[in-house]
Amino acid sequence: MKLRLACATLLLAVAGTGSSWAEDVRPAAAKGDAAKGAEKAGQICVACHGVNGVSMIPQNPSLAGQGADYIAKQLHNFKGEPKKDQARNNAIMAAQAAMLSDEDMRNIGAYYASQKPRTLAARNKDTVALGQQIYRAGLADRGVAACAGCHGATGAGLPSQYPRLGGQHAEYTEAQMKAWRSGERANDPNAMMRSVAARLTDREIAAVADYIAGLH
Ligand code: HEC
Ligand code: HEC
Repeated sequence: MKLRLACATLLLAVAGTGSSWAEDVRPAAAKGDAAKGAEKAGQICVACHGVNGVSMIPQNPSLAGQGADYIAKQLHNFKGEPKKDQARNNAIMAAQAAMLSDEDMRNIGAYYASQKPRTLAARNKDTVALGQQIYRAGLADRGVAACAGCHGATGAGLPSQYPRLGGQHAEYTEAQMKAWRSGERANDPNAMMRSVAARLTDREIAAVADYIAGLH
């Protein structure tokens, strides 16, 4: 028993150092209750994020299949907590997040994480090869790391460290990349995304965003 406890503590410690969000997700973080999350999401969030988190509006991200911890972290960031310097500024979502408790955020995260992600398709034949190259291999000459290195070969992400990207609206992804690049969005631990986006041109951002929409 003692040994098993020690092992669990060690595992937690290892997971803690590996996880970039651990510090942002509230310590009490028990697993969210997906059923309670579904209720809340069905009352409010569905209007913009679609039924079961599959958004029909390109400016609004799909949430289906997104990591539970990532969703909870973003909601804290929109609300302007726990760290002011990690705020994610968006007037629409700030108003939404202001109405949610920590528990609501965890429940909603658990609910959307349990939903089936949707796949779109790349739309621009002329830039798919460029988008694929950036996603899979990066741009070595400019020090752009491959997106796949963190977000996974299929864009599924790595729960509680890196968000799912695959199947997301290109318009939304493109807007986020530009927000990282301008520093308007600055809630990425260790500036991981700002340093990537800073090295990409508009055309490259559009290409990789379009490729990601069809990634699964
Ligand atoms: C009026 C429309 C609207 C409503 C209602 C709304 N959202 Fe959003 N949501 C948005 C928009 C627009 C964005 C993109 C913000 C940005 O560009 O940073 C967004 C972004 C998000 C994100 C970030 C996703 C990501 O991939 O980083 C999460 C999480 C989220 N919303 C959760 C919710 C939840 C939970 C609710 C219900 C309590 C909700 N939203 C209600 C419009 C809305
Ligand atoms: C070193 C790891 C790393 C690399 C490489 C990386 N990312 Fe990320 N990315 C992250 C992390 C961490 C986040 C979550 C930041 C946060 O907490 O808001 C993120 C978030 C994002 C988001 C926001 C998702 C959303 O739903 O709002 C987009 C879009 C994104 N990355 C695209 C890319 C693209 C495109 C590339 C390659 C050009 C890339 N990333 C390379 C670590 C990485």
